[in-house]
Amino acid sequence: MTAATLTSPQYRIAQRIARLGTETAFAVSAEANALAATGVKIYPFHLGDLDIKTPQNVIDAAFAAANAGKTGYCPNAGIAPLRQALADDISRSHGIPYQLENVVVQPGGKPTIGKFIMALMEPGEEVLYPNPGYPIYESQIEFHGGRAVPYGFREGPHNFEIDLQQLADSISERTRLLVYNNLHNPTGAESRPEEMQAIAELAQRHDLIVLSDEAYFDIRYQGESTSIASLPGMAARTVILYTFSKKFAMTGWRLGATIAPVEIANVIAKLNVNDESCPNHFIQYGAVAGLLESQQEVQRMLDILRTRRDRAVELLNSVGGVRCYRPQATFYLYPNVTELMQRKGFNDYEAFRRQVLRDTGVSFCTRLHFGRALPEETERYIRFAYSGISLADIEEGLGRFVQWSR
Ligand SMILES: Cc1ncc(COP(=O)(O)O)c(C=O)c1O
Repeated sequence: MTAATLTSPQYRIAQRIARLGTETAFAVSAEANALAATGVKIYPFHLGDLDIKTPQNVIDAAFAAANAGKTGYCPNAGIAPLRQALADDISRSHGIPYQLENVVVQPGGKPTIGKFIMALMEPGEEVLYPNPGYPIYESQIEFHGGRAVPYGFREGPHNFEIDLQQLADSISERTRLLVYNNLHNPTGAESRPEEMQAIAELAQRHDLIVLSDEAYFDIRYQGESTSIASLPGMAARTVILYTFSKKFAMTGWRLGATIAPVEIANVIAKLNVNDESCPNHFIQYGAVAGLLESQQEVQRMLDILRTRRDRAVELLNSVGGVRCYRPQATFYLYPNVTELMQRKGFNDYEAFRRQVLRDTGVSFCTRLHFGRALPEETERYIRFAYSGISLADIEEGLGRFVQWSR
């Protein structure tokens, strides 16, 4: 039996769908899984997923809530105990007095992106977004009829830095929103205080509203994260994307939140009514337990990730023609492979990625999975996620990559 297909030409897919992008890292995942099904050992560095289980107290609290009958609809913006626990948590970490009314629970971090665009952008307006960056920004901006204007990064002394001049030069009278992802996927970059301050000043001077994507705010190995929302005058023009996915190893649970000034939060809650009615009810009780009681488990996870990072960075830097920073946050590495690709005779990213996958089983994403390369870009990069692969497999896989690269 084959799946049903459209037969009549009058059933046409709406034109707007042509503007909708996707997250091609999932396609790399499917390709790697297909190869694994033929018996080839795969070293999965491609997806920002975790092979570490959600803290047990989170699981227990969610099951207890389901058993206690929390299985019906709940308020559109989420249950009050979770909104309050998040308001308290973010108020503490950001030094901003958020209240329950500022928090709208979401099915994951991702929904905040599209809802932010829908709530605040008129068709034809321009939105600045990081490129390389999480591909859903560009997809959602274009889908909703906006113009996606990329800003780039360059290699600095310690890690990647935002090209502030290019960012400033890209602002026009039609620019309305700025997407800022600090602690950054895919580079692992973190703004220095001067960089964050410069971005806040640009936002204020040009009256931009900022989406601060803080998916990795708590995935850090040293020091403390800071948010652009915490800078003077910024909380009133910043919408925070929060997610439980990474901090509590809950990617498959689909739970996150939008934290925003009340007027925006109300619009986002109205979009919730239209999109999903309410977030999944009983798992929100698990998240409350996570926020209140899971510090030790989170620390244990970070310790595991730190060891993986150190070994992966060491091995990647031992590959001739590869240069890799050691970021203090996220679980991504974004090595420069310009020389390696040249030496091995590759000009095309996909050909390079596929050859390494076939020859070694090492599976990763390339720069092109994070947006179209900018015109002035000459260097080549690939992205390794070390969140879903054991230390032993990091050593074995990258050991093969080292051999391959000789
Ligand atoms: C920068 C960034 N923002 C948002 C998300 C979405 O997170 P979630 O899986 O919670 O929807 C991700 C996921 O990888 C991400 O890397």
